[in-house]
Amino acid sequence: MKNFINLEDIPAKDLRKILIDAKKRKNRRRKLNTLQVDKDQPLKGKLLIQMFEKSSLRTRLSFYLAIKQLGGGTLTLRPNELHLGVGGETLEDTAKILSTYGDGFMLRTDSDKKIQDFKEYLSVPVINGLSPSSHPTQVLSDIFTVEEIKKKPISKLNITWIGDSNNVLNSLIAASVKFNFRLNIGCPKNYSPKKSILNSIMKNNKKINIFNNAKAAATRADVIFSDKVISLNDKVNTHKKISQFKKFKITQNLIDHAKKDCIFLHCLPRGPEVEEKVFFSNRSKVWQQALNRVHVQKSILLYCFEQLR
Ligand code: CP
Ligand code: NVA
Repeated sequence: MKNFINLEDIPAKDLRKILIDAKKRKNRRRKLNTLQVDKDQPLKGKLLIQMFEKSSLRTRLSFYLAIKQLGGGTLTLRPNELHLGVGGETLEDTAKILSTYGDGFMLRTDSDKKIQDFKEYLSVPVINGLSPSSHPTQVLSDIFTVEEIKKKPISKLNITWIGDSNNVLNSLIAASVKFNFRLNIGCPKNYSPKKSILNSIMKNNKKINIFNNAKAAATRADVIFSDKVISLNDKVNTHKKISQFKKFKITQNLIDHAKKDCIFLHCLPRGPEVEEKVFFSNRSKVWQQALNRVHVQKSILLYCFEQLR
């Protein structure tokens, strides 16, 4: 079995294998309805247990459909209905029970340590469905979307991120090392990626450009990514932070600095960081991006269950 916690821990060739499998599976089921199972039913009879300690729409639905389409099923737990935490049951005991009843565990949490603790005690794969430091299933799926739309390897494209230095950006940085693509980051000076992240970039001999000017970051971009300025459970002065990002809003004027066929991606949900005109324009591929999570997560599940061919 394999875990899927952070992109930096997964070999580049495995990440590529996941994307190749997702493309094949997506193509093969073009004529199937949402709940129809892939012909080979590779995860027939398997149960994925999901738990969300923070809100989720896309991750919840896409994992539900992913395991269903592979022949298995899912059960979603509400953290406030377990004994873990308030009822005093230990994480170790909880993990042992999850491993006895289920075949895999997907967790969205506010604690990176909790994922590591579950990893230690589970005997089934654990998948990070978003943590404070990363959102690996989102970003791997986004690489898939970029290559699907651009019809070329992401290593041949200029990727730009304009926004907060958050979990999604951390995973995008890790992906830029694994998939070897150029990454420009545009953010206010005091919102640059953490030193530890920048050190790991340098260690990997990677050149990532950080601009404190949105236009400079967007120049010649093939893809512009953004995300909410205020992340889930972000404990900051919301009003102040949003105003500090004013000059980093994705506007039509900003997009005009990118390449003519530049696309806009956003993991959603969105906030005021993107103007409606851009969000609903034909540059914006956010709906395709959201749906692709089903396809890529199916192949992530197969990777975790060591069933990726
Ligand atoms: N993009 C994403 O993870 O969406 P949810 O928070 O709705 O799952
Ligand atoms: N950075 C955002 C992503 C939401 C899917 C957050 O953590 O809230």
